[in-house]
Amino acid sequence: MFSKCVVVFVTTAVAALVGLSGLAESADIEAGKTLYEQRCAPCHGPDGKANTPTAKALQPSPRDHTDGGYMNALSDQHLFRVIKEGGPAIGKSPIMPPQFDLKDDQLQNLVAFLRTLAVPPYQGGN
Ligand code: HEC
Repeated sequence: MFSKCVVVFVTTAVAALVGLSGLAESADIEAGKTLYEQRCAPCHGPDGKANTPTAKALQPSPRDHTDGGYMNALSDQHLFRVIKEGGPAIGKSPIMPPQFDLKDDQLQNLVAFLRTLAVPPYQGGN
């Protein structure tokens, strides 16, 4: 009887832990959107199209994040890296700044939000 209770308890605890870590790992698109508005919109535009006056003044132009033809070919890993380490980390312009103060889950939220902007929609697989 006692051992049966222990088994039930341990099973429940493990299930709860797995559930919690699953939540922590799944990206929060809304949080990514908020960060995007604060940190990326000044250059990439609030809609990601990079057609604000500031965006147009920059050389090279900030990437149009709605351009699925370009963006969908980039892997999650590539996006994570360029956002965290900046343009030079992937051979691009230093005008694209690093975000070293962001935690991994915040960077993942940004990647997840970027994926929602693409036209045609991102189908996964990268
Ligand atoms: C100071 C202006 C500026 C800010 C702020 C900025 N970017 Fe950029 N970003 C650029 C420019 C300029 C490029 C184009 C670099 C190039 O093509 O050499 C770029 C390119 C990119 C690319 C394309 C990378 C590739 O492989 O072509 C991504 C993705 C990106 N930015 C995401 C972001 C995200 C997410 C944020 C907010 C955390 C952000 N950027 C903030 C200027 C900016």
